[in-house]
Amino acid sequence: MHMHSLIAISLAIAGAGIAFSAGAQSPPQRLGLCAACHGELGIATGKTIPNLAGQNLEYLRSALSQYRSGARDVAAMRAAAGMLNAAELDQVLQWYAGQQPAESRLP
Ligand code: HEC
Repeated sequence: MHMHSLIAISLAIAGAGIAFSAGAQSPPQRLGLCAACHGELGIATGKTIPNLAGQNLEYLRSALSQYRSGARDVAAMRAAAGMLNAAELDQVLQWYAGQQPAESRLP
C-alpha cells in the first residue's frame, strides 16, 4: 500500500473517532444498513457507490423519494429504502448531510 493512502486512512479513522466521541450528533440507530454501502461517515465503500457526506439535504431527500417511487429504478436502493420507515430514513439523510465531504479529508 502506498504511504499516501496509509496517511489518508489514518486521518479518516482519527476523524471518525473525533466525530463519534464529540457526541455533538450521535449516529442514527438505523445507520448500519446504509453504511454498508455509503460508509458510516458518508464516504462510499465502493467505487460505483456515491459518497453522501456533506450532500445537500434536500437533494438527498429528493433522490431517495425517486428510488422509493421507482422514478430512479435501482434495485439495491429500492430494497434498502424499503427496510427503514420514513422517519428513520430522514435521520440517516440528515446524518450524511452533516458529514464532511470526501475532498476535505485529503492531506
Ligand atoms: C447495496 C448497497 C447500498 C445500500 C445498502 C444503500 N445504498 Fe444508497 N445507493 C447505492 C447505489 C449503488 C447508489 C447509486 C444508484 C444510482 O445509480 O442512482 C445509491 C444512491 C443513493 C442516494 C442518491 C445519491 C445521489 O448522489 O444521487 C441516496 C440519497 C442513498 N443512496 C441513500 C441511501 C440510504 C439512506 C440507505 C439506507 C437506507 C442506502 N442508500 C443504502 C447503494 C446502496
